[in-house]
Amino acid sequence: MPLQNRSSKTRRRTILLVIIMVLIVTIVAVLAAVLLANETKETSRQLLQWKGRGTTKNLQEVILGRCYNYITTVNPELRDKDCQNIWETMQKAFIYKNPCNITTEDYQPLLDLTSHPIPCNKSLFWSKTNDLVHRYTKTSHNFLTLEDTLLGYMADGVSWCGNPSSPGINYESCPKWSECESNPSSVYWKMASKMFAEAACGVVQVMLNGSIEAGAFRSNSIFGSIEIFNLDPDKVSTVQIWLMQNIGGPASESCTGRSITRLKSILEERNLRVSCEDNYRPVQLLQCASDPDHADCRLCTNSVQ
Ligand SMILES: *[C@@H]1O[C@H](CO)[C@@H](O)[C@H](O)[C@H]1NC(C)=O
Ligand SMILES: *[C@@H]1O[C@H](CO)[C@@H](O)[C@H](O)[C@H]1NC(C)=O
Ligand SMILES: *[C@@H]1O[C@H](CO)[C@@H](O)[C@H](O)[C@H]1NC(C)=O
Repeated sequence: MPLQNRSSKTRRRTILLVIIMVLIVTIVAVLAAVLLANETKETSRQLLQWKGRGTTKNLQEVILGRCYNYITTVNPELRDKDCQNIWETMQKAFIYKNPCNITTEDYQPLLDLTSHPIPCNKSLFWSKTNDLVHRYTKTSHNFLTLEDTLLGYMADGVSWCGNPSSPGINYESCPKWSECESNPSSVYWKMASKMFAEAACGVVQVMLNGSIEAGAFRSNSIFGSIEIFNLDPDKVSTVQIWLMQNIGGPASESCTGRSITRLKSILEERNLRVSCEDNYRPVQLLQCASDPDHADCRLCTNSVQ
């Protein structure tokens, strides 16, 4: 009897011990879970803050949709491109990275995947004529701007950047060019512009804005700082400038103006032939389509009659 008593006492003690241990383990587990949850909240709060627009909502769907649209309807010759892989490669270039520390190496794999030839005589560069030049390429299929290449088409008007901590993409804000130059979209556009210029051949065109007071050609623009220096004089025969003024002015600069003269001498120094045309008629007709009654748009001027 006493023996049995002792053993039952031992059993009871063991059960108590087990219960206490289970309790301790549970408490530790709960504590750990709470701490971990807090920590996750902490890291997600470590979203870096910038002055620019955050990553475009549904970035993946936007890029994938545009890629598929491009290879299906815009340029079916590229139907064999792998859009899923293109998206994943693009994402890898910036996700979970500090958005001020993006390099050309980050985007090189994407450039290799998306490169495609551009037919000679078709490259159309532009600066400060964004709206007009794209209205023109939509109606005249003789020319391609950067935004008509796969890289330019996918990213046009889209914003994106990463964040070192979870979730790796910053949808709240992204660095502006003035905050840091090596941000994901600036590096992307610089590389895309360089590639676009390197691919140009034959006669190339550039549409500049003759209604800009400070001058139509600016050496700090993408065209003035990247594209003109990456044209290959062995492939490009002539650079044709179309200098477009707004209908109704101001007529700030013509082909004989100061900034155009500067552009001409830079190009000629690089052994490129240059020509310039004020208000290139096919483009001006497009301007006139939205302002047909303006005096500048009359077929015959009074002086002719
Ligand atoms: C920037 O990136 C380079 C290479 O990816 C890395 O070695 C460096 O530590 C990074 N610097 C910062 C401040 O993140
Ligand atoms: C490009 O334009 C030049 C001059 O107009 C012409 O001689 C050449 O044949 C054109 N090349 C192509 C591929 O159309
Ligand atoms: C020239 O630039 C001004 C200011 O950016 C813009 O409003 C205008 O539409 C541009 N003109 C042309 C012909 O693109």
